[in-house]
Amino acid sequence: MLIIETKVSSLSKDKEYIFLFMNSGNFWKKIIPLQRNPCTVERIYEEEIIRMSKVTVIGAGNVGATCANVLAFKEVADEVVVVDVKEGISEGKATDVMQTAQLLGFDTRLSGCTNDYTQTAGSDVVIITSGVPRKPGMTREELIGVNAGIVKAVVGEVLKHSPEVIFVVIANPMDTMTYLTLKAFGLSKGRVIGMGGALDSSRFKYYLSMALGCNANDVEGMVIGGHGDTTMIPLVSLATYKGIPVTKLLSKEKLDEVVQATMVGGATLTKMLGTSAWYAPGAAGAFVAEAILHDQKKVIPCSVALDGEYGESDICIGVPVVLGRKGIEKIVELDLNTSDKALFAKSAASVRATNEVLKEINVL
Ligand code: APR
Repeated sequence: MLIIETKVSSLSKDKEYIFLFMNSGNFWKKIIPLQRNPCTVERIYEEEIIRMSKVTVIGAGNVGATCANVLAFKEVADEVVVVDVKEGISEGKATDVMQTAQLLGFDTRLSGCTNDYTQTAGSDVVIITSGVPRKPGMTREELIGVNAGIVKAVVGEVLKHSPEVIFVVIANPMDTMTYLTLKAFGLSKGRVIGMGGALDSSRFKYYLSMALGCNANDVEGMVIGGHGDTTMIPLVSLATYKGIPVTKLLSKEKLDEVVQATMVGGATLTKMLGTSAWYAPGAAGAFVAEAILHDQKKVIPCSVALDGEYGESDICIGVPVVLGRKGIEKIVELDLNTSDKALFAKSAASVRATNEVLKEINVL
């Protein structure tokens, strides 16, 4: 919760404590007793105008609904709105989640609407999950034809009602959809963040923890590069277990297996599920939004616009960034070894080739 203004005013009231919550847009006014004037019956109240935080999730499918659920359950924002084109789906899923509020003990207000962008007005963060997921055997890149049009249209609608919003892009191919969001509307680079690296790093830590037989929270690891089966780069040389390099704990063969499992982590689940995964992608979107809204200054690998960093420009690709209330607050330049540098250049070339398709299909 961000307090943007505080003032003191006098009010006469009978009751000892008065709490008023008035919703006007996303500004809530809270009036609380400050002290009693001993000479009169008048009480002096402190009036705070509190800026409530608001997140919109576009797309109420598997990933969007999961993301909204995590945002609500973890109280990442005071208000969460979900939008979908399919009549009733957002409303239904939002109501279902809200009926867990008492059971799980959260206060976030979650609502859904069908294509009504006025409901998204004043959002601090908008998470874009609208688009088709992949089917078994498909690559993320193959989704570009359908998803580019959807992403461009929804970003345009969002900006009409939340011109200062920070975007978190999940729809695939994620690096290219992030680039499209940035370029199509001339947004500043700090406001457009692709969540792929957060998800891939979580999967990398999961596979490392399985190989080490330890808790995933005790493992440090990062995946940079493109968010594709062949473009992501799990950074084995920098991964540690409680400060110990994993290269000292696992054989080269085992580490190669971990890297391979991470890279095809999404595809493996798509094969099992018949559609792309949603729990980890949805949670990764909420994780990124939380780092922004709560001004956490966490270092999270995300797809961001590079301007010479890592030797690349005019591209959105996964690198570690510091996330805070302004969005991307810093790009962290890792000291990559020669092999990882070469992999990064190759990955960037591949992402750039996918970006070229945006021009071929006339969305950019
Ligand atoms: N506006 C709003 N919602 C839309 C639009 C649009 N223009 N077009 C499609 N949608 C909605 C669909 O109606 C659907 O409810 O997006 C939702 C997508 O949900 P799913 O089909 O369940 O797909 P999901 O698994 O959630 O994946 C969404 O995230 O991880 C990526 O690759 C994945 O690109 C895919 C995206």
